[in-house]
Amino acid sequence: MTHLLVTGGAGFIGANFVHYWRQHHPDDAITVLDALTYAGNRANLDGLDGVTFIHGDIRDTELVESLLKGGIDTIVHFAAESHVDRSIHGPAAFVDTNVLGTLSLLTAAQRTWLAGSGTPHRFHHVSTDEVYGSLGPDDPAFSETTPYAPNSPYSASKAASDHLVRAWHHTYGLQVTTSNCSNNYGPYQFPEKLIPLFLINALHGRNLPIYGDGGQVRDWLHVEDHCRGIEACLLKGRVGETYNIGGGAELPNMTVIDTLCAAVDAAFRADPSLAARFPDAPAARGQPSNSLKTTVTDRPGHDRRYAIDETKARAELGYAPARSFDEGFAQTLAWYLANEGWWRAVMDGSYRDWVATNYTR
Ligand code: NAD
Ligand code: DAU
Repeated sequence: MTHLLVTGGAGFIGANFVHYWRQHHPDDAITVLDALTYAGNRANLDGLDGVTFIHGDIRDTELVESLLKGGIDTIVHFAAESHVDRSIHGPAAFVDTNVLGTLSLLTAAQRTWLAGSGTPHRFHHVSTDEVYGSLGPDDPAFSETTPYAPNSPYSASKAASDHLVRAWHHTYGLQVTTSNCSNNYGPYQFPEKLIPLFLINALHGRNLPIYGDGGQVRDWLHVEDHCRGIEACLLKGRVGETYNIGGGAELPNMTVIDTLCAAVDAAFRADPSLAARFPDAPAARGQPSNSLKTTVTDRPGHDRRYAIDETKARAELGYAPARSFDEGFAQTLAWYLANEGWWRAVMDGSYRDWVATNYTR
């Protein structure tokens, strides 16, 4: 049996991963360590048995060490500040959590797992394709050998954390793997990222703020495919290696937004009760959601294009995304429509009262 420490397991991808792992590896033990920042939500793990939740900070090295000494042999490291726009307005938090937090985890792992004759272990670091910078329209997609060229405080902090993980392998022999993936979407994503923000804005009749010309390209990866990719890294990845994980869905933002608007319109036509639930939506009056599209000032330093070459993950891990964007998006829209209580509580912060009562240390 494996005992996983999932850092950031109450956030978007971390929570999806905990649900995924519980379902596919029911005999493994899982401990989640999460500071419950604005992006973390204890309720994302509701309904799961056999998951121990620790409300704490990855920068608390002693806490992490004490958890690892309880028999944990695998760390899956998601905890981070993850939103590019926030990093532009407040970069220090990104260095604190993403760089110093990763250093703290590595230090605790080194002290616990490499002491004496050592303990079998794995440290899997979850990172991003943004570390490779921005592509021109005809550039080849990012491979694992593409030089690092991060452009935002967020991606710079993730790049620094990747380098620390690499160094702990080469210098101290820590058994690490790293995955660099593209833009995730799916259930439990905080409504500050493009897809959930625009979906909820469309339901409320609020503008859809498109940065610049909307021609930026991202490779969209359904979060469950990402979880399968991380599982493949843990089970089949070679220690010391990095793997790029993509969704095989390279799309300009405007295409994503048009798809989203058309899907919302279709959902209102198919289900008349939506007009009563969301009376401010243009779709409730038979108007197109794309009437809400508004061009706004571009994000400073906005990367133009990301694309993933996943040849290595396919060849070594047998990884391939299972969901097309259309299929994954339909599932995501259905989830947000069925879980209005979740996103309302996340957005108004009311879930925090419950967290404060139940989970203070
Ligand atoms: P998220 O912002 O939804 O969640 C981050 C989680 O980390 C939250 O639960 C938060 O409470 C927790 N956290 C933050 N600081 C912490 C600290 N100091 N100690 C403990 N917990 C802390 O992020 P996400 O979108 O789920 O991303 C997870 C990881 O995947 C990040 O490392 C991110 O860089 C990476 N990633 C995300 C995407 C994406 O599209 N979302 C793509 C590529 C890589
Ligand atoms: O590529 C992986 C990265 O994807 C992750 O490492 C990050 O954690 C994650 O946040 C995401 O970064 P992006 O900046 O690509 O995602 P975001 O959802 O913020 O924006 C997607 C695109 O949509 C981007 O080109 C900016 C644009 N955008 C975004 C928002 C929030 C808009 O045009 N308007 C918006 O309001």
